[in-house]
Amino acid sequence: MERLQKVIAHAGIASRRKAEELILEGKVKVNGEVVRELGTKVTSSDQVEVNNVKIESEKKVYYLLYKPRSVISAVSDDRGRKTVVDLFPEVEERIFPVGRLDYDTSGVLLLTNDGDFANKMTHPRYNIDKTYVAKIKGVLKREHIRQLEKGVMLEDGKTAPAKVHVISSDVKQDKSIVALTIHEGRNRQVRRMFEAIGHPVSKLKRENFAFLTTFGLNAGESRKLTAHEVKQLRVLSETGKIG
Ligand code: URA
Repeated sequence: MERLQKVIAHAGIASRRKAEELILEGKVKVNGEVVRELGTKVTSSDQVEVNNVKIESEKKVYYLLYKPRSVISAVSDDRGRKTVVDLFPEVEERIFPVGRLDYDTSGVLLLTNDGDFANKMTHPRYNIDKTYVAKIKGVLKREHIRQLEKGVMLEDGKTAPAKVHVISSDVKQDKSIVALTIHEGRNRQVRRMFEAIGHPVSKLKRENFAFLTTFGLNAGESRKLTAHEVKQLRVLSETGKIG
């Protein structure tokens, strides 16, 4: 069951606000009857018409973007900053980012117009691993690695266990490169986890989203996911493994 204005918006006919206006103006019919009630819910078997034309649901599309830094993971920005959707000028569907990466974080970001898919990819219940490579200040001690692995207490609660791999450490320059794999997606989580153990992050990239990487792309470039990749991601979210 979906709200009528959402169904109209998802069909690519109008924004949700404009869809509400169309409903209030009596221009929307459900199964042949005019509906003016904004709370009306419909299912995929209901026939919805706008201005007497039956709506078709928008084709589902899936993209992988190598998000560059200095771009916001949103559909629009009230401060006028460039958004990840601005990097898809040719795409007509109403795509949105699946979860988000910080303004200053680069790496793999999926975009789609499929809300169910996006939910499966981001909800911690579905356990999709994401690997971040962080440049941090200092050199991690054994106890700090263990803390990351067991879970770090943040202001919004303890993080789930993470996998940690120290790629390199430079004692002289007092910095390290560390790969951290998590399946939660709390706001600025990786930066906050390192901050909490006294090793602030100066650079962050999401290297992997499940089995997907930025391989073959430059920052700012994107590609369509293959039908097989989309299927594999769904299977992974449903069963925790592929194949
Ligand atoms: N964790 C962060 O700190 N930033 C991101 O962009 C993603 C995860």
